[in-house]
Amino acid sequence: MRELLIAPQIDSFETFAEFAAGFSVGAEDLILTNEYIYDPIMKKENLDCHYIFQEKYGAGEPTDVMVDAILEEMNSIGCTRVIAIGGGTIIDIAKILVLEGAQNVDVLYDQAELKKEKKLMIIPTTCGTGSEVTNISIINRTRKGTKMGLTSSSMYADHAVLIPEFLQTLPYYVFATSSIDALIHAVESYLSPGCTAYTEMYSTAAMEAILKGYCRIAREGQDARFEDSRSYLAASNYAGIAFGNAGCAVVHAMSYALGAKYHVPHGESNYQFFTSVLRKYQKKKPQGKIQALDVLLGQIIEEGGCPDGVRGSDGIGTLENLLGVILERKPMSAYGAVPEDVPAFAESTVMNQQRLLKNSYVELSREDIQSLYQDSLEG
Ligand SMILES: [Fe+2]
Repeated sequence: MRELLIAPQIDSFETFAEFAAGFSVGAEDLILTNEYIYDPIMKKENLDCHYIFQEKYGAGEPTDVMVDAILEEMNSIGCTRVIAIGGGTIIDIAKILVLEGAQNVDVLYDQAELKKEKKLMIIPTTCGTGSEVTNISIINRTRKGTKMGLTSSSMYADHAVLIPEFLQTLPYYVFATSSIDALIHAVESYLSPGCTAYTEMYSTAAMEAILKGYCRIAREGQDARFEDSRSYLAASNYAGIAFGNAGCAVVHAMSYALGAKYHVPHGESNYQFFTSVLRKYQKKKPQGKIQALDVLLGQIIEEGGCPDGVRGSDGIGTLENLLGVILERKPMSAYGAVPEDVPAFAESTVMNQQRLLKNSYVELSREDIQSLYQDSLEG
């Protein structure tokens, strides 16, 4: 059994300018980013490198059409190193750009073996995906009508670089949804049958950093997050290492159907099912690691200076109350979901998400999953 794999070297810098100097960023480099990240932080450095702004090729999640157009522009420029600076979309696209013979997404998906021909550096600008340390890229293949993950050891970054400066311009909503996503990565990998003593250390450290940060926000207000930027970034990275090895599970599996149909952002869609899945686990298999998790969550929040009114009847209850302070959880119907979606989402989850369902703490039946969707519809 593999205990732990961390493929990229992990580096950190306080600022983008220090990173650019440290890695001699110049004419051979392509930076894939968004203009709203470039303007406040990168523009003033006047670097001699190439920039591509992803939004020029479409909004939202990465599609085959978007990636093919970016590949065409990149191939007309020529570069030896790709530097991804952004959230999940930017990172997923960059993992494809560095592959040998990358001209067209469809060709890469059909290729038996993928090789890397460019260096890849990934700088996350949210505190959630953990994608800087994983080797999967999820592309919406619009020409095939499906969303598919492409995975290869060639898609690991050479360097994952953590720069807290990028978090200083992150809007509160993106901070909240992305850090909740990271917390869910930590919890799902902690409970996964694939959890090892090594991945558990990363899961636990991520939970500690995020929940203690949340306690501070609950006491001092939303701006308190800026004091802990470095800590959130590290936590997201730890959680990425944990789930990259031990896997995510039912929360992620269930969130895809809602996210895909009603365009609910990934972290918010996961949040929808987070504590209700934990309660379902507790009900189905009360004796087991869920007990340790419940105690751990309560302890961390207590040590973090549990704010008034947050303490619940147990650790999971306290977590739910604390999360409610960070971001309001809406019922599924608030995103447009209707009763007919409940059986359809359950069907889609069971049919398409076995990759994630196999990491469940306890096996959930289709009826269990359907009842979780039903409870979320108005609750
Ligand atoms: Fe996630």
